[in-house]
Amino acid sequence: MIIDGKKVAAELREELKKKVADLKSTYNAVPGLTVILVGEDIPSKIYVKNKEKSAIEVGINSEVIRYPANLEEKALLDKIKELNKNNKVSGILVQLPLPKHIDKRKVIETIDHEKDVDGFHPMNVGNLSSGYDSSIPCTPLGCSLLLKKVEKNLSGKHAVLIGRSNLNGKPMTQLLLKENCTVTITHSKTKDLKAECLRADIIIAAVGIPKLVKGDWVKKGAIVIDVGINKTDSGLVGDVDFDAVSKVAKAITPVPGGVGPMTIACLLNNTVECFSKAQSK
Ligand code: GUN
Repeated sequence: MIIDGKKVAAELREELKKKVADLKSTYNAVPGLTVILVGEDIPSKIYVKNKEKSAIEVGINSEVIRYPANLEEKALLDKIKELNKNNKVSGILVQLPLPKHIDKRKVIETIDHEKDVDGFHPMNVGNLSSGYDSSIPCTPLGCSLLLKKVEKNLSGKHAVLIGRSNLNGKPMTQLLLKENCTVTITHSKTKDLKAECLRADIIIAAVGIPKLVKGDWVKKGAIVIDVGINKTDSGLVGDVDFDAVSKVAKAITPVPGGVGPMTIACLLNNTVECFSKAQSK
């Protein structure tokens, strides 16, 4: 089974469109998402464009603020503080990576945690790891929604994560623990990655190494989620050798068309959630 992330994301966007319309008739207001892009990073520009397009499509009030790469850190922090106070703005996202002279941690911590649609603020990270209500980072949220499409009950499954990033690996761990999975987190210093993967019922690969996960690394019937997006001479490829792994896996996400579209749909979901929570306060 190939997990069609494009289709699942389109369904989620459709649900959100209805939710936004309902919220509009209830509150006479719609969720607002402000994305800040600093600099000229090409992939970031593409992501931001896609985020804007999808937000508009579901009826979210979308604003993109673009700054040159030499923007002073203070100007960015001041802008965030202003957006924190603006009640038309439900969600704030500062696109990463940021230029080196800007302290990413300061930026993330300046965003009001109740508007943190990325789920990167320490308050949200802490709440998620304590099992409390929080914003959930979009990529792992997307992965977990795709997993649930294949298998409703993940209890007792052994999940092996490749990659320990704040963006995906760490929050993914929390989501899988909530589902009662046994979780192994592997990374660049893991001794025998193949042996770890062979024990997995679920593999989530997010390291940025093209086709790292080979056909003989995967147990028959495993579910494989590929978060990688790697540009190679032969086009975009994931962290999983799709052709080989799809022969042994029960289900696998393609690249492109797997996790990618889900990430954006989940960002819209988080924006709607932030708006709803703010209204019911
Ligand atoms: N850059 C790449 N992925 C992400 C993401 O999920 N959020 C933000 N803010 N920046 C990113």
